Amino acid sequence: MALIRTHTCGELTRKQTGETVILNGWVDTRRDLGGVIFIDLRDRYGFTQVVFSPQDDKQAHELADQLRSEYVIGVQGEVRERDSVNVNPNVRTGDIELRVKKLVIYSRSETPPFEIRDDLKTNEDLRLKYRYLDLRRPVMQKNLMLRSALYRHTRNYFHENQFAEIETPFLMRSTPEGARDYLVPSRVNPGKFFALPQSPQTYKQILMVSGMDRYFQIVKCFRDEDLRADRQPEFTQIDVEMSFVDEEQIYTLMEGLLQRILKETVGAEVAVPFPRMTYQDAMTTYGSDKPDTRFGMKFVDFSNIVKDSDFRVFSKTVADGGAVVGFVVPGMGTLGRGVMDRLTKRTRDEIGAGGLIYIKNNEEELYSSVSKFVPEDVTRAMVGASGADKGDLILLLAGPRDSVYSQLGDLRLLMAREYDLIDTSVYNLLWVTDFPLLEYDSEDGRYYAMHHPFTSPRPEDVGLLKTDPGKVRARAYDLVMNGSEIGGGSIRIHDTELQSTMFETLGIGKEEAQQKFGFLLDAFRYGAPPHGGIALGLDRVAMLLTGAKSLRDVIAFPKNQRAVSLMDNCPDVVDEAQLKELHIRLAPGLDAGGS
Ligand code: AMO
Repeated sequence: MALIRTHTCGELTRKQTGETVILNGWVDTRRDLGGVIFIDLRDRYGFTQVVFSPQDDKQAHELADQLRSEYVIGVQGEVRERDSVNVNPNVRTGDIELRVKKLVIYSRSETPPFEIRDDLKTNEDLRLKYRYLDLRRPVMQKNLMLRSALYRHTRNYFHENQFAEIETPFLMRSTPEGARDYLVPSRVNPGKFFALPQSPQTYKQILMVSGMDRYFQIVKCFRDEDLRADRQPEFTQIDVEMSFVDEEQIYTLMEGLLQRILKETVGAEVAVPFPRMTYQDAMTTYGSDKPDTRFGMKFVDFSNIVKDSDFRVFSKTVADGGAVVGFVVPGMGTLGRGVMDRLTKRTRDEIGAGGLIYIKNNEEELYSSVSKFVPEDVTRAMVGASGADKGDLILLLAGPRDSVYSQLGDLRLLMAREYDLIDTSVYNLLWVTDFPLLEYDSEDGRYYAMHHPFTSPRPEDVGLLKTDPGKVRARAYDLVMNGSEIGGGSIRIHDTELQSTMFETLGIGKEEAQQKFGFLLDAFRYGAPPHGGIALGLDRVAMLLTGAKSLRDVIAFPKNQRAVSLMDNCPDVVDEAQLKELHIRLAPGLDAGGS
C-alpha cells in the first residue's frame, strides 16, 4: 500500500496545522467549486474535508476528477486551518482541511443502491441485502461500537467479580424450553440430531454441580419462534449462574453490572437498589409484566364504586368476577369527539377490548361517554377516586380480570406513545418478582412452566403444587428497563425429589423426564449446591441504549421478519448429495438444490 495513514478521519484538529499527514477512507460527498474539488473523506472515526486544487498538486487534482462516492483512497497533504466562514462546528475536524499533494485510488465503487447517510429512508430489505453498505452509515457503526463496549464492560465486570467465563456447546441435546429448536443433523450418527441451544440453561446448572461456583458467558442462543421487532432467531445473552446464593446476591450483582454499563456507554447514573414489584402488582397497576415506569397513569379499580350501577356493563362485569379499571391521562380532557371516536375504534380493533368508556374532567363541565346510563354522582365518585385534576381525561375498560388489565396496559402505552408522555431521557430499571410458576394452557389442558421447569417454587407454596398449581409462586424475576424485558432468571430447584414433583405437575412422566433431562437429574444426585442465575438479552440492552427501533439495528448481520438473511440469502436449499450424506430425504413436493 502506497499511502498508509498517519491519522484517522476523525482525528485532525488545529493542533496539526502545517503538518503533512496521510488519510485513508471512503469518498463520502464530492463538491466542485471553481475548479477546486472538495471531498468529505469518511472512516469509522469521522469525516475530514479533503481539498484538491491544481495549485497544490496538478496531478492529484486531475486524478481527483475521477473520484465518486464510495471510492477508497489514500491522500497525503498538508493540514490547513479553514477560513472562518468555512468552519463547521458540528464535526470534530471542522476547523481544518487537508490540501492534497498526493492521491492514490485503492478501489472504485459502483453507484451504491442507496446513499450512505444516517437519515436514510429506504426500505429495510434493501439495507439488509447490501448490509456492508448499510453498516458504513455512521449511525450503524456507532451502534456496533456501543455493542462492542457492552461486551468489554460486561467481561471486565464479571472477571473483577471472580466469575469464570466458560463456553458451553452449540451442538446439544434437543430439550425444547418453550420455543422450537433449530436442529442439526449428524452425518456420523445417521438419523440423529443435535439442537442449537435456546439458552445454556442446563449446562450452566451442571457447571454449578461441578463446583464452578460463578459462571458467565456472552453467548449466542437460537430459537425458532415467530419474530417481532424485539426478537431474533439468533440473539445474544449475558448468561450468569451462581452457587450458594438467593435472589438478593443476584439482584445486587446485576444492579452493579447495569450501573457500570449505563455509566460507561451512555453516561447515565442509575440509583441502586432498583425498585421491585411483584408480578401481581405489576399486572394490576400497569397491566403488564414489564411495566414502563417512566410515566405514571397507574390503574385505579372502580369496581366497588360501580358494582351496583344500573349500567349493566358495569354491574354485570363486577358480578361476573370481572373488573372496571381505568387510568388518568393528564391534561387530555380537551380531546375532541372525533379523536375519542378514533381512539375507541383503535381500542376495539388493535387492543381487542369490548369498548372504551371515558370521562372528561373539564373546567366547565364533567363529561362522561356513558352519562345516559351512569348518574353524575357516580361519575363524580369515580373522578374523586381517580385523583384526576381539572382538564384530565379518564379512560376505563370493563371486562374479565384475565384480559381487562392487559388490555388497559396496552391502552396506557398507546396513549403515552401517541401523546409523547414518556420521558425518554431516563433509564428506569425495575425487578418484577414472584411470577407464577406455572401457566395453564386451556387448549392443551395442562400446565406449562412460565419460565422453565428448573425454576424453584417459593418454599411456602410447594404444598400447592399438588392441590392448586396455578397459585404457586416462583422464585423467578425479570429485569425490566423502560418497559422492555431485558432479562430473566430464577433460583433453581437443586433437589431431585422436588424436580421430579415439578415434572409430574407439568405432565412430564418419569420416563419422559429421564429421557429428556436425565443427565441433569443424574447430576443432581451427586451433590447439587443451591444455585440461581439470570440471563440478560444483550441485543435488547443495546437497542435501548442506542435508541434503535429494532434489534436488527444493533446486530451486524440480522435476519429479517421472515427469519431470512437477505445478504447471503439463507436459509437455502442444499445439494441432494449433501442431504444424502446426512441421511435426509425431503418430503414430496420439496426439491433439493443443484438437481
Ligand atoms: P429467557 O428466555 O427469559 O431466559 O431469556 C432471557 C432474556 O433473553 C432475551 N431474549 C431475546 N432477545 C432477542 N430475541 C429473542 N428471541 C429473545 N428471547 C429472549 C430477553 C430475555 O429477558 N435460561 C433462561 C435464563 C435463566 O433462567 O437464567 C432464559 O433464557 O431479554
